Amino acid sequence: MRVLGIESSCDETGVAVYDAAQGLLAHRVYSQVELHARYGGVVPELASRDHVRKLLPLIQATLDEAGLIPADLDGVAYTAGPGLIGALLVGATVAEGLAFGWGIPAIPVHHLEAHLLATLLEDPAPEFPFVALLVSGGHTMLIDVAAPGAYTVLGNTLDDAAGEAFDKTAKLLGLPYPGGAALAELATRGRAGRFDFPRPMLKKPGLDFSFSGLKTAVMMAVRELEAGDTGLTESDRADIAKDFEQAVVETLVKKSLRALDAAGRERLIVAGGVGANRSLRAELQLATAARGAQVFYPRFELCTDNGAMVAVAGLHRLQAGHVSGGQVQATPRWELASLPAMAGG
Ligand code: KG4
Ligand code: ZN
Repeated sequence: MRVLGIESSCDETGVAVYDAAQGLLAHRVYSQVELHARYGGVVPELASRDHVRKLLPLIQATLDEAGLIPADLDGVAYTAGPGLIGALLVGATVAEGLAFGWGIPAIPVHHLEAHLLATLLEDPAPEFPFVALLVSGGHTMLIDVAAPGAYTVLGNTLDDAAGEAFDKTAKLLGLPYPGGAALAELATRGRAGRFDFPRPMLKKPGLDFSFSGLKTAVMMAVRELEAGDTGLTESDRADIAKDFEQAVVETLVKKSLRALDAAGRERLIVAGGVGANRSLRAELQLATAARGAQVFYPRFELCTDNGAMVAVAGLHRLQAGHVSGGQVQATPRWELASLPAMAGG
């Protein structure tokens, strides 16, 4: 069985073909980052228009790369939500139109389910059940995954998402949007321990997150240094980046371990853009190994939004019979826990 996956929920146009037996046959991502950078964030209308321009050529290029024609496909999966409504509608209408024209089913996919199943593309793939740490620009969640389709949210952010905290801190330090990766790079030149930034919500029980206090602490440190004799120097910026990153990483690691305990699981998977953070990956590796647990990540390029994860999730949904019936589905707000279970899940 072979599924074309289409992602267009935010500022990446992603297309891929996944084959149940052979794995990922081709995957391409076009990032709109440069388009939005000068506005300091994603402009929804510009995002939709750019998906319109890029999606069909990207689908053709992906099929060409895989050496396939439409008749080789068994379904077209698309991100149906959550996300920006205009951006979602582009992927949804294109996918439904192609599926209708090609005489195959279209499969609406939940964006977070796609992130959760992205690690299935790796070798070794994690076995079910596992706990997922989902850390992206829009989400910071701990989720118990009993089986594909069986999700229980254990913890959520009360304010900013981890990626958002990275991006806002990066902006404070004068880095261009989206600054997460650039901030991590700046942190490699910093010394740890100069600033005593809070570890959000670690002292409190529970698995929720909050990053607004940390953001405020960083802002105050920046203002204080800026007002000083030397201003905010390059080494100040690197030191702040380092201590900020450590505060976030320590919080994510400790809460992930707590979640493994709470759910009684031994496998952790990491998903979402912040999962590309090297320091987070290294610390989670150490912390899980120390307790005999395992951690799994998607390769770096599959942490951020892409079509491959949509194709994998779509294949699972197709096998469970969860197809659209020709109805265009675009759902900007969509609870993960409301998804129907899959057979055996
Ligand atoms: O999953 P994603 O592509 O988009 C959403 O669905 O939100 O995640 C993007 C987020 C951005 O906030 C970006 O700054 C962050 O992931 N990010 C990173 C790194 N690479 C991307 N944050 C920290 N360290 C990184 N290396
Ligand atoms: Zn995402």
